[in-house]
Amino acid sequence: MDQTTTPISSHQPIGVFDSGIGGLTVVAELRRRLPHEAIFYIGDTARVPYGNKSQATIERYSVEISELLLTRGAKMIVVACNTASSQALPQLEHLLPVPVTGVILPGAKAAVARTKNGHIGVIGTRATVRSGAYEKAIHALAPEVRVTSKACPMLVPTIEEGWLQSSITDAIIAEYLGDLTESGIDTLVLGCTHYPLLKKALARYLGPDIRLVDSGENCAIAVGELLETHRLSAPKEAQGSLQVALTDPADVFLTVAEEALGLSVGEIHTAQVQK
Ligand code: DGL
Repeated sequence: MDQTTTPISSHQPIGVFDSGIGGLTVVAELRRRLPHEAIFYIGDTARVPYGNKSQATIERYSVEISELLLTRGAKMIVVACNTASSQALPQLEHLLPVPVTGVILPGAKAAVARTKNGHIGVIGTRATVRSGAYEKAIHALAPEVRVTSKACPMLVPTIEEGWLQSSITDAIIAEYLGDLTESGIDTLVLGCTHYPLLKKALARYLGPDIRLVDSGENCAIAVGELLETHRLSAPKEAQGSLQVALTDPADVFLTVAEEALGLSVGEIHTAQVQK
């Protein structure tokens, strides 16, 4: 991978990527917590979903999108996708010449801090659940905690269809989460960056006794800390900004996400993956 020969400057943008639009839930938290930062987001909409693909493919896609972000001057990379974080983070940390963070460790930390009865549920894509990444991260922090995971592959297409409040969505949630709620969890990690868009529907089904953990907020805190550590935080007088590029033109889901998150993404650019 090309190394940046010039020193990284705090004025450069934070590069953020996801397989699609789901990572905008993380961007919304980054904008809230780090308002001075410029953010360059790439959604790999030409190749979404990542969640049913093999580790080799997800690694390759993640490296290609990170390289694109580096060509846009990214001073650090935020992997705003649980699937890519669970499959490709070690390789990205090894290859990239800038600091990298994913969403799994921040989510695991938040869940461990939240659980009272020591039983955490995790939902995510097939690839994320298959990787056991949340179990490993949670057990590294708290070996005694019990983790029960469930892959929910239908949730991403349901969300992308814009069915955030629909009886069909409620039925899919009930089908996936029935066993999980009966297993005695008191905390549920939304282990996919799309899922915060379903928070209301999930909370309605789960009731008040199960807390929802979304890694976006904790990821934004981790990004702030990492920038401080590397002396890369944008100056306080800087005006933050957001630029969004997609590898395939936006469809209706972008509007759904913008409205649900109260995020204004402005003009969308198209990004070409270099092979
Ligand atoms: N947003 C991705 C994640 O956080 C899931 C979407 C996909 O399957 O590509 O895992």
